[in-house]
Amino acid sequence: MYDGSMTVTDVRVELEAAVAELPAALRDHVLRVVTEARRLAHQHGVDEDRAVIAALGHDLYRAHVEGKLLAEAEVAGLSVSSEERSHPILLHGPLGALDMAGRFGIADEEVLAAARYHTNARAGMGVLEKLIFVADKIEPEKARAVPAFVEARAVADQDLDSALRLILEHQITRALDRGWPLHPDTVAARNELLEG
Ligand SMILES: [Fe+2]
Ligand SMILES: [Fe+2]
Repeated sequence: MYDGSMTVTDVRVELEAAVAELPAALRDHVLRVVTEARRLAHQHGVDEDRAVIAALGHDLYRAHVEGKLLAEAEVAGLSVSSEERSHPILLHGPLGALDMAGRFGIADEEVLAAARYHTNARAGMGVLEKLIFVADKIEPEKARAVPAFVEARAVADQDLDSALRLILEHQITRALDRGWPLHPDTVAARNELLEG
């Protein structure tokens, strides 16, 4: 899972230290996502360490200002879509995943993908990716204001795909209501769930 120089515990301790440096509200959100991810991992047969590490890393770049996100994406050689250029916050997942690989030596592709795709989802997500996507939305503070997230929270322990579908459909409906463009990955993830 890691580059060999660090154990899982080392990585976790270093990520916890990085999370502790985040602005307080973001740090607290991340710690609530860790709690959700740990429980969902237990419920859905996912290795707890992998879920906790993905949860700890998923928002490492969430507090960066838009100019920094764009500049770092440029430095990292990420291909930036037109949507990401107009909404650079969309880059925080991909940049966080790069940081997890670079700074923390994480080589577990599904852990990195869970961070990379936690905002918009995508078709073909593995269980750990789904779990982090869902945990990020159903943590109690974020769920409080969104009925679809409360509903997702109620079913996530038993049925992760149903929780995922509720959240994706909320995101799609919200985008339509507000006149935002639909993200093709979100639509693809939702359509895949319809196919069963
Ligand atoms: Fe995020
Ligand atoms: Fe988050």
